[in-house]
Amino acid sequence: MVKMPVRETASGPRAVVRCDDLGVAPYSDSDDYLFRPYLGAGHAATLDRIAAWMTEAGMTARVDAAGNIVGRYEGRHPDAPALVIGSHVDSVRDGGRYDGMLGVMLGIETVAWFAERGHRFAFAIEVVGFGDEEGSRFPVSMLATRAVAGVLGDQDLALVDAAGVGLAEALDGFGLDVARFADAGRKREDILAYVEAHIEQGPVLEAEGHALGVVSAIAAQYRFRAVVTGVAGHAGTMAMRLRHDALAAAAEMVLAVERIGGAGPEDLVATVGRMEVGPGVPNVVPGAVTFSIDIRAGVDAVRDRAAEAIQAALPEIAARRGVGLDLTLQQDLPATPCDSGLSALMADAVSEVTGAAPRVLVSGAGHDAMVMARLAPVSMLFLRCRGGISHNPAEAVEAEDVQVALEAMTAFVIRFEQTGAGAGAALTQEER
Ligand code: GLV
Ligand code: MN
Ligand code: MN
Repeated sequence: MVKMPVRETASGPRAVVRCDDLGVAPYSDSDDYLFRPYLGAGHAATLDRIAAWMTEAGMTARVDAAGNIVGRYEGRHPDAPALVIGSHVDSVRDGGRYDGMLGVMLGIETVAWFAERGHRFAFAIEVVGFGDEEGSRFPVSMLATRAVAGVLGDQDLALVDAAGVGLAEALDGFGLDVARFADAGRKREDILAYVEAHIEQGPVLEAEGHALGVVSAIAAQYRFRAVVTGVAGHAGTMAMRLRHDALAAAAEMVLAVERIGGAGPEDLVATVGRMEVGPGVPNVVPGAVTFSIDIRAGVDAVRDRAAEAIQAALPEIAARRGVGLDLTLQQDLPATPCDSGLSALMADAVSEVTGAAPRVLVSGAGHDAMVMARLAPVSMLFLRCRGGISHNPAEAVEAEDVQVALEAMTAFVIRFEQTGAGAGAALTQEER
């Protein structure tokens, strides 16, 4: 007798298992930990796997001109505008398995849930796995997301990674053409709304006993690059009083960044997360140091005041120590409110499945939704994660929470069909 393949049904636990599957090589560029940078070999292998899952869930799958994977579940009419559900597939170095990927997997499960029931909408549903949210390859983040939203900066196409590989070369290795990068841009009229499910990456939901939360806004971010230029010299012969040690100066600057970040309200944070020391040799006084500064706050004004204080403090340290300093703003992402109407639908969906009013919170972490908000109204659903730990291999979620999140996502889509912009799309279709 021929054995029929068992068709698994849509579920939150399946989304978790899939994230776990994608947490190791060949879906990671490292054999030792998860690192899936934009346009790497792990990224390519991951897109093949996701395309198969999207197809199985009833979608057509394609990779766009910026390396994002896009699955489309058609509406009742071809060319209908889409409700986009997305998050990112890239990871930080030695990252967790759920940051970003869980939102993409939940998008696929949401579509699978409706496809299994034969339910089509007046609108299409698209599931997008953005290629670069973290900025873990090039010096700025959300490159592929910005291509979709049509908000690329002048310098973006000329970006070069730490190994000296330019965006054009990296795209070429992925079978893509930098000259067509902006073709990933979507038309405003084709996107009704953007919804993203993501782990909280913080401790609030767990501490307060909530499986889910609704995001009211995403914090503002700045990314700066600081280059400190001292004088390299012999570590054995250069007298201490004569040194212009770039690393000692940079160390004092790091402490200034920490002090300024800690002197504001609770939501203000400032981080130096990356530093390169030149020449980086034990018996040479460091001559050059490059480091990153990441500044965030719930509102632009608080972030901006901290940035001004840092821009005043660092040159003072450089002058006192006789080193050069070049500070460049690399990225400016303003604080992004989520759409109040969509968030109300999401809050109702969460109340329906959990039986309690949702915890509403501001996201300190950046998300693709910040950029997609330039194109369409956005809403975000947060899931509790263990210990609030993220950007760390210890990142963990409970499968039961992910099941509840899937139920909230499906409840949201039904509400969107009945009362949201989706109902508007139905009207538009009938008028055609
Ligand atoms: C991404 O995770 C960010 O918040 O930088
Ligand atoms: Mn992240
Ligand atoms: Mn993320």
